[in-house]
Amino acid sequence: MTVIGAGVIGLSCAWRAAQAGLRVTVFDPAPSSGASWVAGGMLAPVTEAWPGEEELLELGEAAVRAWPAFAAELESAAGRPAGLRTDGTVVAATGSGDRAELDTLATFLGRLGRDVQRLSGRELRRLEPALGPDVRGGLSVPSDLAVDNRVLLAALRVAAERAGARVVEQPVRAVLDDGEQVTGVRTDGGDVESDLVLVAAGAHSAALHPALDGLVRPVKGEILRIAHRAGAFPPPQRTVRALVDGRPVYVVPRDDGGLVIGATQAELGFDTQVTVGGVRDLLRDAERILPGIAEYALVESAAGLRPGSPDNLPLIGALGPHGLLVATGHHRNGMLLAPVSADAVLALLRGGAVPEPVRAADPARFSMVRR
Ligand code: GLY
Repeated sequence: MTVIGAGVIGLSCAWRAAQAGLRVTVFDPAPSSGASWVAGGMLAPVTEAWPGEEELLELGEAAVRAWPAFAAELESAAGRPAGLRTDGTVVAATGSGDRAELDTLATFLGRLGRDVQRLSGRELRRLEPALGPDVRGGLSVPSDLAVDNRVLLAALRVAAERAGARVVEQPVRAVLDDGEQVTGVRTDGGDVESDLVLVAAGAHSAALHPALDGLVRPVKGEILRIAHRAGAFPPPQRTVRALVDGRPVYVVPRDDGGLVIGATQAELGFDTQVTVGGVRDLLRDAERILPGIAEYALVESAAGLRPGSPDNLPLIGALGPHGLLVATGHHRNGMLLAPVSADAVLALLRGGAVPEPVRAADPARFSMVRR
């Protein structure tokens, strides 16, 4: 089996496939880079969901339930941490318009029976003293998780390789087929034969086979990494999401006291330059919520390309010629959906049924529209 892409999805699928006994080769010119390297690592389906996205919420909820076992298994397979954090999320609002949006979100989630508590600004500050006085109220979502994306990627690569997968640092330019059946991949080093190819190349997926044309597009996101310095106010324990005058911002803690601040969102093709405006917006909004970060060190700025799909659900399943599988289009949810994506791909490889909530991600939903 050939896997194109060594990001969180490609590596998770490669690990599962190699565990199941397949001979797996993963191609990626820069393994563990791209959107997976830049990700904040929120595993937070509840606070990412909006009315109208119930299928994505169901999928995300299944994924968050799968995460603790996935992380435990990965840690034991890789012999190193998987990077999971279990501290939950708080959602903070500043202006009255922001609070109205949170009310809508809380009502929607309450109707779905989700574990969400509405809290005043004072109650939120009792949970997270780092929150500033501009926070007027919000939500606590204790069941949300988070993962250190870079710790995770390292563990996945080790686990995949220990299970027998081979990672080849070369780009794949195209998936080859004879009209009915996949025959291989075109790499810079020549054509490589394969009758089973999984496209997990994130925002770069669409160019690899005509069946993916128009189904995956790059959605740029910029992040900052900041680090606590001696004497500065301690960082929050929980992931903090906020609406600041209608603009979303999130701050995800790391075990070393660092924070990831994200993320901008813009559709600018394959542009990965960090902009002055992006950095300004992220810092201004994060500082409004967590004033103490002004004393932190700014250690990194980066941009990644989320793989957007037409309906925000990923594409997981068979598509086009026989032997072509795809696990891409995860948009804002690649980290979150990695365990369920890999399980679904494994089910397909075994000729079984894809688990229920992942069926909504069947790429056939677009073939039907095109016919
Ligand atoms: N899931 C966070 C982001 O895409 O920015």
